[in-house]
Amino acid sequence: MKRTHTCGELRKSDLGKEVCLQGWVRFSRDHGGVAFIDLADRYGITQVVFDSEDLPEAEVKRISDIMKGFTRESAVSINGTVRDRVEGTSDARNPTGEVEVLIFDAEVLGKSKTPPFEVGDQKENVLPNEDVRMKYRYLDLRRTEMIEALTLRSRFMTLAREYLNSAKFLEVETPILARSTPEGARDYIVPSRVHPGSFYALPQSPQLFKQMLMVGGIDRYYQFARCFRDEDSRKDRQPEFTQLDMELSFVEEKDIQDTIENMIVHLWKGLYGTDLKTPFPRIGYVEAMERFGTDKPDMRYGLEFTKLTEVVKDVPYEIFQRIMKAGGIVAGLNITSELSGGRVGRNDIDRYIEYAKKAGLGGLTWMKVENGVPTSNITKYFTPEILEGIKTALNADEGDILFLIAGPWKQTYEGGGALRIKIAEDLGLVPEGTFQFLWLVDCPMFETDPISGKKDAFHHPFVKPLGDVNEDGCMGACFDLCLNGNELGSGSLRINDPEVQRDVLRVLGKTDEEIENEFGFFVESLEYGAPPHGGIAIGVDRFITILLGKDTIRDVIAFPKNRKSTSLLDGSPTKVPDEKLEELQIMSLSLDGIDFDFDEE
Ligand code: AMO
Repeated sequence: MKRTHTCGELRKSDLGKEVCLQGWVRFSRDHGGVAFIDLADRYGITQVVFDSEDLPEAEVKRISDIMKGFTRESAVSINGTVRDRVEGTSDARNPTGEVEVLIFDAEVLGKSKTPPFEVGDQKENVLPNEDVRMKYRYLDLRRTEMIEALTLRSRFMTLAREYLNSAKFLEVETPILARSTPEGARDYIVPSRVHPGSFYALPQSPQLFKQMLMVGGIDRYYQFARCFRDEDSRKDRQPEFTQLDMELSFVEEKDIQDTIENMIVHLWKGLYGTDLKTPFPRIGYVEAMERFGTDKPDMRYGLEFTKLTEVVKDVPYEIFQRIMKAGGIVAGLNITSELSGGRVGRNDIDRYIEYAKKAGLGGLTWMKVENGVPTSNITKYFTPEILEGIKTALNADEGDILFLIAGPWKQTYEGGGALRIKIAEDLGLVPEGTFQFLWLVDCPMFETDPISGKKDAFHHPFVKPLGDVNEDGCMGACFDLCLNGNELGSGSLRINDPEVQRDVLRVLGKTDEEIENEFGFFVESLEYGAPPHGGIAIGVDRFITILLGKDTIRDVIAFPKNRKSTSLLDGSPTKVPDEKLEELQIMSLSLDGIDFDFDEE
């Protein structure tokens, strides 16, 4: 190779060496006859210097003519000698900052047009809007932050592979063109030319295939699996994303959780050189909902809900009575004056009431402890005993602000959970740079849609029910891995009895005919000595996003889609010429002019 060193490599120990560096022109400054250039690549930045005084006259003209092509972000090559920087000009923040390279030859390798934005490191707020970064992603990828994200991602994958390979896992690929796997989103479908009118679905996950690998005796499988889900993109969601997908045979729930913990310990050691404490704490689904208002609680800070239904059961306040008679709950949150530091005023309370409504709560009842008594414009509807009961239950003191939420169990706790996060962020209660893993356990098997009354799987239909399959109160052997209030992964033991599998699908409203048509191939595989098995999938993009403290998953994916599921770089999705559609026997219905709504993040 012509290149002798990267742009992050040279140190004082290299003084006097003749080197060839190749990289991109990041910044250049001309000081009359002496030009300083920051030459950058993935590994770092080295200052290279063109000094006419140090070169024979003929060379000065030749090289300076070449260097006219050293425009910003052009790919260039230089040959030169490593020398000390002039005293007082070394850059302690840059590992190569004590040396520079005096140029004696140069070449333009790939000229750059004027870039649409500054690639060099700068404060976030100077970056252009994300759409421009997406359109010119290849330039955006040259930024240190993007290099760091992709480097961590690659390192993460290497370490995970290292661990899993040593633990006897086989890396196996599963089909991308397949039948639909139900994971709760819409499918991306792919037409078949040779079977007109028939379609493949891109996998929402490799769920059924990994289970059939277990039937096939693979015993321990993993894959960095691309998954495709046609759902609205969000900060933590992409239509196309990567799972670290695993499945193990002859295991219990704890075996799967232990494997993941050990793998993460290995990752931590490799990434940060520290020992992560295991086992991760476990919290039951109901407890998580009732204390934190979410099934992915961030337990790095308090601000917990307390159930008040018993305390207020005889309250004359009509709204609460109506809610409780309909089977709803009342719960309270105490924003102590210690937490708020007196920073939550009447305007803030109004703001939180609005926020609560948007988060799905019917409203938000508030009180402030004044002269020893919870007080607000509605406390006249409460008896002194009940107010005292609320104060005691919420452990409230003078000046504390109490929020009471009331309504149907799930909707109310979920709305309350969103409010809790909002308040914690506003009050700066969320610690930065700390990581708190936990397992969410004891989950139900089914959920009921409050509007349609339809049963849905809490995870997916392949989770092993604990005990007999029944619609109400049946628990599933499933669990989630959470990190800092995010769901990182979900796993479960699976059904290995074909009859139980059919029963579960029936509870989900499938007729025997539908079961046969949609899942017959899979249920049949369970008829041939399916071992007890289970597994988990971890969202790689989400994991990296949290590790780096990024705001969006898009910042850890080389070529992500934007919020409208569009790739601004290649312009996909695109229209397809009619001939191609004809070949596939597909008719195009023009939907031009129809606007889809995209959720705000
Ligand atoms: P689940 O659907 O919970 O489980 O997905 C597992 C993990 O994948 C990540 N994830 C996503 N990441 C980015 N964009 C998305 N659209 C997206 N959807 C999911 C999350 C999530 O926790 N087959 C089961 C796993 C199993 O049971 O083994 C499954 O796919 O981090």
